[in-house]
Amino acid sequence: MLKKVILSAAVSLGFASGAMAAGGAGHVENFDFSFEGPFGTYDQNQLQRGLQIYTEICAACHGLQYVPIRTLGDTDGPGLPEDQVRAYAEFYEVFDPELDDFRPARPTDHFPQSGLENAPDLSLMAKARAGFHGPYGTGLNQLFKGMGGPEYIASLLTGYTGEEKEEAGTILYENKAFPGGWIAMAPPLYGEDIEFADGHDNDLHHLSKDVSAFLMWTAEPKLMARKQAGFVGVIFLTVLSVLLYLTNKRLWAPVKKKYKA
Ligand code: HEC
Repeated sequence: MLKKVILSAAVSLGFASGAMAAGGAGHVENFDFSFEGPFGTYDQNQLQRGLQIYTEICAACHGLQYVPIRTLGDTDGPGLPEDQVRAYAEFYEVFDPELDDFRPARPTDHFPQSGLENAPDLSLMAKARAGFHGPYGTGLNQLFKGMGGPEYIASLLTGYTGEEKEEAGTILYENKAFPGGWIAMAPPLYGEDIEFADGHDNDLHHLSKDVSAFLMWTAEPKLMARKQAGFVGVIFLTVLSVLLYLTNKRLWAPVKKKYKA
């Protein structure tokens, strides 16, 4: 008994110090996204704004090398018309081994790799980072809302405190969301960095959210189809259960009748 108590005390102490060691974990805020929850869907206008922010700002350093440019035309995604996708592709240059030279990209090419060596590729970043874990770090929020990295990315972009320091020749910027608290990326957004053609809000909060939504789409372009398939599956299983219940009742009816008498 005593042994057990000591053991569990030791285990919980171990946990506590583990949590403390990870104490540099960043602070991720809760952001509301249209694609949260079992029926959430992408907001096409938001994806288009996010694409614009990525293109005008983040693309200078970050690549999206796993994303084929043609998917910008997906109706589940940004849904750009075909001619716009083609025009967009030409914005990038890719190396063609057949020509042994650079040429303008085509819709069948992927986005380029990161232009800046130490800037990570963002294709899957939204799936590679944890999101808002709900109250008390229970993970309940993810269970109910199915959220992940976009909240982290939005928190990162809005989490700069304005403090800087130099370490081993690099400038680090203090950021509340970044694990460890100091990131090598200068604040990429300040608000009003971009003018949208439709005059949509362009303060820091909105820009961060839009680009994070776009990065969620690059990481999970089939999210809507997946949710739909899941919903159809649940309906199918419900109908099946009813039929099985009725069959079961029918099959056992004669037996039950016999023993009742
Ligand atoms: C001037 C270059 C530059 C620009 C522009 C830039 N970034 Fe970064 N970004 C970096 C670098 C460098 C890192 C690596 C920082 C580190 O690991 O300390 C980084 C890291 C990141 C990370 C990963 C953080 C992590 O948890 O590891 C995310 C997410 C990110 N950037 C998003 C963006 C978004 C979104 C934009 C556009 C709004 C953007 N960045 C614009 C240079 C840039």
